[in-house]
Amino acid sequence: MSIKKLNQIYEGKAKKVFATDDPSFYIVEYKDDATAFNGLKHGTISGKGVINNKMSNAMFSLLEKNGVKTHFVEQLSDRETVVKAVKIVPLEIIIRNVAAGSFSKRYGVEEGRELKCPTLEFSLKDDALNDPLINDSHILALGVATEKELDDIRKMAFKVNDVLKEFFASIGVKLIDFKIEAGRLPNGEIILADEISPDTCRFWDAKTNEKLDKDRFRRDLGGVEEAYQEIFSRINNK
Ligand code: TMP
Repeated sequence: MSIKKLNQIYEGKAKKVFATDDPSFYIVEYKDDATAFNGLKHGTISGKGVINNKMSNAMFSLLEKNGVKTHFVEQLSDRETVVKAVKIVPLEIIIRNVAAGSFSKRYGVEEGRELKCPTLEFSLKDDALNDPLINDSHILALGVATEKELDDIRKMAFKVNDVLKEFFASIGVKLIDFKIEAGRLPNGEIILADEISPDTCRFWDAKTNEKLDKDRFRRDLGGVEEAYQEIFSRINNK
């Protein structure tokens, strides 16, 4: 694909987004920067950008094969990928299979408790407000998404969970929870966007429950780079 990278249109905590000479496509560039607690904690995870780029692309390809439409188009380099230009729906879409993190805190449930069924929750993507939890009724009332979009997002999120849970189980990893984002194509269709990586998922080793994700950075557990490498090499050796 011959595509020209133009001006930067957005810089997030872990990625930059660039316009291209084709308005249907953006180029995303993954950084090694890591933040936690809404930017309060800053650091660098060496090599993270390369791993997250390649891993996300592998996960999006797997999901496409299983009927989930995603923004993934083509990997350009170690850190750069061409994606479909979408408008991000300002929601963090979170699926949980096992209690952990903010869910455990909020409901007083020990981390690691298997949930009776997968749960879905939404947070409003708004750094100034600290990404507050938001329910379906609020989403509709505020016009963040329509009923039909919410329906499509819910179906997509549970389908992503089914596909990823099975895939990670096959490489000895429990998918505890994850966050995805949805984008709107110009025709209004909802597709999967953003990334799927150890930044946005909790992965525990199936045998030892060792954490293989960004919680190692958030909680100062050490072995951060090694955890990202471990997940990536299990995916590559599959
Ligand atoms: P939480 O337990 O802190 O709410 O996180 C749930 C999942 O969402 C976990 O896999 C980490 C991911 N996540 C993000 O990708 N970005 C965020 O800003 C937060 C808070 C969580």
